[in-house]
Amino acid sequence: MAADASLFLKNLWYLAFHSSSLKPGKLIGKEMLSEKIVFGRDEHGKPFALRDNCPHRGVPLSGGWFKDNTIQCCYHGWQFDTKGTCKGIPALPTDNTIDISKIKVFQYPCEEVNGTIWVYIPEKKLPDLVPNEPPPNLLLARDKKFLQVETVTMPADIDQSVIGLIDPSHVTFVHQSWYWRSSKKLKIKEKKFEPTARGFKMVRHTPSSNSKGYSVLKGGTSTEITFEIPGIRTEHILVGEKHEVISITLLTPINENQTELTHIFYSSLPLTKWLWWPLKRLGKQFIGQDLGVFHKLSEGLKSKPTLMLLGEPDMQARWYYEIKRVYALSQQNNVPFQNPVKPQTLHWVT
Ligand code: FES
Ligand SMILES: [Fe+2]
Repeated sequence: MAADASLFLKNLWYLAFHSSSLKPGKLIGKEMLSEKIVFGRDEHGKPFALRDNCPHRGVPLSGGWFKDNTIQCCYHGWQFDTKGTCKGIPALPTDNTIDISKIKVFQYPCEEVNGTIWVYIPEKKLPDLVPNEPPPNLLLARDKKFLQVETVTMPADIDQSVIGLIDPSHVTFVHQSWYWRSSKKLKIKEKKFEPTARGFKMVRHTPSSNSKGYSVLKGGTSTEITFEIPGIRTEHILVGEKHEVISITLLTPINENQTELTHIFYSSLPLTKWLWWPLKRLGKQFIGQDLGVFHKLSEGLKSKPTLMLLGEPDMQARWYYEIKRVYALSQQNNVPFQNPVKPQTLHWVT
């Protein structure tokens, strides 16, 4: 799909970081949806996000300093509070009559949930903007936190990254390994899908017997896999009566050519404490395999070939484009989003 204004969906929350990446006292500049944003933590540790341009001459605020809960620009030293209001201009004589509190940097809504930091990217940059909804529900109690498995930059736009994430038929070829599955044991899969608020889910089922990754989870398991725009894939695994594993992959567009992929993980199984490093390695290896094929893909896409989405294995990709189109229209026309996806059973061989 051509990169244009409609590539990015606005008025939605996007993952900025795993909480461990944003240290108190530091400023981090980050590009998201081709917008430059500076992140930090206020004196209470709450994250904030501002447009990463000084209103004076546009220097990135992330290139300045953060001290006493104040951001100071590195060029002429203008100071701003964590809401983006100007608090000081060192070069102005003290008897000046300019009301510097009218000088503001755009503040993005920013929230920390379960050890992850989210920012709301609005279409219109209005002052004191209040998002129409909280950050996405990550299925975890307020006091619990996700561990970070891996964050990588995919050399692809958000659309290619999403369809790579929800693509069932690459698994056989990209993720082949002895402990996972082998191409010699291909099986026909039949999965039921239903629409969700802004996406679709593969309804809860017992994982397939040729996925060895699941077989370590003894005691009866079932899994539900959900995809929601802008790029959230959630796998919720119930293990026996009382344990759960939540594995979430989040996509954040950086710009037209790059998308950040972050994999976060939670498990209530006591075993996970001991298995965390091998699990993390496995996760990184998995993502590394996707990254490898994406580097080849980005080479291939340079010559702008015509692409196709074929049959039931590519149906989820079709749904993504359709949901995206309808969501963008609903935002444009200011009407509620109506999910175009209907319940359906899909088949593919992996
Ligand atoms: S550019 Fe920031 S203070 Fe001048
Ligand atoms: Fe993959």
